[in-house]
Amino acid sequence: MDTVWWLLSFGALLCLPGVPGLDNGLARTPVMGWLHWERFMCETDCVRNPNNCISEQLFMQMADMMVSNGWLKAGYKYLCIDDCWLATARDEKHRLQADPIRFPGGIKKLADYVHFHGLLLGIYQDLGIKTCAGYPGSQGFYELDAQTFADWGVDLLKFDGCYYENLEQLEEGYRNMSIALNRTGRNIVYSCEWPLYARRFTKVNYTQVAEYCNSWRNFDDIQDSWTSIKMVLDFTAALQEQLVPAAGPGAWNDPDMLVIGNFGLSWDQEVTQMALWSIMAAPLLMSNDLRDINPRSTALLQNQEVIAINQDPLGAQGYRVFKGDNFDLWEKPLTGGSLAVSVTNRQEIGGARQFLLSRGILWKGLACKNKCYITQLLPRRYEYGYFNETFSLLLPVNPSGTVLLRVD
Ligand SMILES: *[C@@H]1O[C@H](CO)[C@@H](O)[C@H](O)[C@H]1NC(C)=O
Ligand SMILES: *[C@@H]1O[C@H](CO)[C@@H](O)[C@H](O)[C@H]1NC(C)=O
Ligand SMILES: *[C@@H]1O[C@H](CO)[C@@H](O)[C@H](O)[C@H]1NC(C)=O
Repeated sequence: MDTVWWLLSFGALLCLPGVPGLDNGLARTPVMGWLHWERFMCETDCVRNPNNCISEQLFMQMADMMVSNGWLKAGYKYLCIDDCWLATARDEKHRLQADPIRFPGGIKKLADYVHFHGLLLGIYQDLGIKTCAGYPGSQGFYELDAQTFADWGVDLLKFDGCYYENLEQLEEGYRNMSIALNRTGRNIVYSCEWPLYARRFTKVNYTQVAEYCNSWRNFDDIQDSWTSIKMVLDFTAALQEQLVPAAGPGAWNDPDMLVIGNFGLSWDQEVTQMALWSIMAAPLLMSNDLRDINPRSTALLQNQEVIAINQDPLGAQGYRVFKGDNFDLWEKPLTGGSLAVSVTNRQEIGGARQFLLSRGILWKGLACKNKCYITQLLPRRYEYGYFNETFSLLLPVNPSGTVLLRVD
């Protein structure tokens, strides 16, 4: 039984806040921002698709939207470039350069623009000889590339792992880039994909990953679909004994981008992604079109009470405590003995089903010692009020939807 197994094996570990993360003072709470990949991928044809190609213009427009439409105010601060920004060759001094047609001002000019608007700039590179899309990779140039990014004013690096041939040195490569970034003296968040690639041939030491990376990907790229969301959740739960203890201020498991506001998720599924990414203390990197996003998805992504669960300063990653009867129950310890609790209905037929939530089913019963106050945050706000230790609550949960509660 999931619950008992979890309690006996790993409960003790979770009493402690996360182990110390990468000591660069950054990402003390999960990074929030926007990342181009899932929505815009590697569209480089600016003739046929001028408004959606990977270009300076796209990032400037997103920066404008982040400022004018409340995203920055809501906490989304990092505007992040993914693959396909590069020219096909390094310059005569072996430095990386942006595609001269699509980024005529270069990355420095874009960074200045982004900083002027109060945002921070993220960029992408790869451990191997080529990026995943085939542009020049960083292998052999970690120090030069780290310095180039620092010179341009970059604030975050996503470091992929395609085309890396010396698998036995993969982990050393990720460590080397972390050291190279540190040596530049610039504050650069390091988002790595070490476990995603290393897991294929070795047992990953997550404690060590957390000492070198501010966040790390464990699983394949997310897609704009409910199937993909479910896979990420089930994968994370299956590995939670390893993943959860590694997370904490400065160091986060990254289940990949938020796809809310795109094409593939129903409203209830969008609620599930937002609730669970908050419970998992995941980086909140949206990949959507901020120039064209509906008000309901916007309100969900900007919900301050839900974001507060994700950004809780304790920095504890939530975990699944129960799976049964087609329900998943997760909880996340919060500052001051509070708890966030989510219930997802995994039955994809019929209407809303009632889940009986009682204190006994929760693992961490610290809240409610005398009495606790229960607030539902999603799918809509509702105050259930005060309950004592013997509370039980009947929660209606829509198919593929989630109820997110806060217990104070
Ligand atoms: C890591 O850096 C060390 C010291 O500079 C170097 O000897 C080693 O070859 C590097 N390894 C990789 C995989 O980059
Ligand atoms: C570099 O690492 C040291 C020691 O871990 C840390 O104190 C310092 O803040 C880091 N500097 C940067 C710029 O990341
Ligand atoms: C994992 O890494 C940590 C930190 O580098 C180290 O202290 C620990 O011994 C490692 N664990 C194993 C099983 O190698």
